[in-house]
Amino acid sequence: MGDKVYIFDTTLRDGEQSPGVSLNKHEKLEIAKQLARLKVDIIEAGFPIASKGDFEGVMEIAKRVKGPVIASLARANRKDIDVAWEAVRYSEHPRIHTFIATSDIHMKYKLKMTPDQVVERAVDAVKYAKKYTSDVEFSAEDAVRSDVKFLIRIFTEAIKAGATVINVPDTVGYTTPWEFGQLIKELKENIPDLDKVVVSVHCHNDLGMAVANSLAAVNNGANQIECAVNGLGERAGNASLEEIVMALNTRKDFFKKECNVDTTQIYRTSRLVSTLTGMPIQPNKAVVGDNAFAHESGIHQHGVLAEKSTYEIMTPESIGLKTNKLVLGKHSGRHAFRKKLEEMGYTLTDDEINITFSRFKDLADKKKEVTERDIEALVEHEVFSVPEVFKLEYLHVSSGNKIIPTATVKISNEEALFEEAACGDGPIDAVYKAIDKITGNGYRLEEYSIKAVTGGKDALGEVVVRISKDGKHYLGRGLSTDIIEASAKAYLAAINRLYYQQVCKHRNST
Ligand code: KIV
Ligand code: ZN
Repeated sequence: MGDKVYIFDTTLRDGEQSPGVSLNKHEKLEIAKQLARLKVDIIEAGFPIASKGDFEGVMEIAKRVKGPVIASLARANRKDIDVAWEAVRYSEHPRIHTFIATSDIHMKYKLKMTPDQVVERAVDAVKYAKKYTSDVEFSAEDAVRSDVKFLIRIFTEAIKAGATVINVPDTVGYTTPWEFGQLIKELKENIPDLDKVVVSVHCHNDLGMAVANSLAAVNNGANQIECAVNGLGERAGNASLEEIVMALNTRKDFFKKECNVDTTQIYRTSRLVSTLTGMPIQPNKAVVGDNAFAHESGIHQHGVLAEKSTYEIMTPESIGLKTNKLVLGKHSGRHAFRKKLEEMGYTLTDDEINITFSRFKDLADKKKEVTERDIEALVEHEVFSVPEVFKLEYLHVSSGNKIIPTATVKISNEEALFEEAACGDGPIDAVYKAIDKITGNGYRLEEYSIKAVTGGKDALGEVVVRISKDGKHYLGRGLSTDIIEASAKAYLAAINRLYYQQVCKHRNST
């Protein structure tokens, strides 16, 4: 199988299973297109039997994203496989990924099946999937806690049945690099045709070792790593794609492996996934955290100024992190703006350019320097948002340390303009109460966060809120140089998303 390591991205499947994350099909498509620019080898687009949204997401991506293999997940049963195939069949490179649990604990308590029945089911699933496509991946869920002899048996049978990729998941993030490396070695030594198929690993991060475990597996012969952007995934997440790729690249001297990924797309991909999922990136996160390339202490700064390699093992440019230089100003016209977007790798429709250009003009009036980060934030906010049912038309706030904060808001919808005022514990609370009076208040504010997009007193403020209703969560983002306006926009964006999803659901069911 040579020196290549295949990068299998599961941001849209396992990543989307992160608590609180829910992407609509347009957002999934945007992320998939960016993953294709990143040049991952495989995109696991979803678990089509799980929901109508998942099914449509996989189908949209299969039809429209060219380049990578598109994988569609199915439990080891014919119904799941039929649905997985139906969703992925239009891809130029479709893969069916089927799985069944193999640990005693899962077989006994979850599946209530004997080991023989599990092998029989796995073989049937692989053979059945093979009728649809030649590219079939088989995973032994909870492989790490399974009996090794049983793993050898089931993988041998799956390969005989036609599996072309064998995946070894650490479903509960339990293993260590030493043990996992040894497990891969043992499988390689004992499964007759394992060298004829791709050997994949899928590590969860419960003990913070997912990346190390995946790399230990590569050192022992694995040649596909399943991972997710920003380490998203069930519970503590999956192995982080950017850490895996930068480790393989930066330490090529040690791993001696090639991978296809275009590292200069890492930063943009990470930002996009964080924005669309509403999952912030911790500042000290390896590779993509805000501090990953910041040198604080005098000794380090001095060293880096004298020679970068004193304290930098990789460059910010290698992940596509640009210096925050001024790129456009208030006199820049539509043509220059369009050209800048193209240079930055965005392909927007004329309508999208028009909307973003008018936001850019507003911003350039308020802010002296408009940087690439500002433009990225504008595109992410304006292009990837849902249609506005409620639109903020006017906002007035009065606040201070000796007065009761009050807010007046005007909001329009297709039919009318509404105005309400309210008092609150603080100016944002007052604004939210006034908005509730107009839009109805049947939802709960679950999360509120604010951060500056760039430095400086006139920085754009980015607010992310999450509201919930009937057990479902809705994310909203707002952007403005005024943080109260950004807060109002974020809250309304979450309410708009709630309406949008309910209307879509209604349309789909009628
Ligand atoms: O963690 C896991 O075992 C999985 C499988 C479906 C591959 O996500
Ligand atoms: Zn998983």
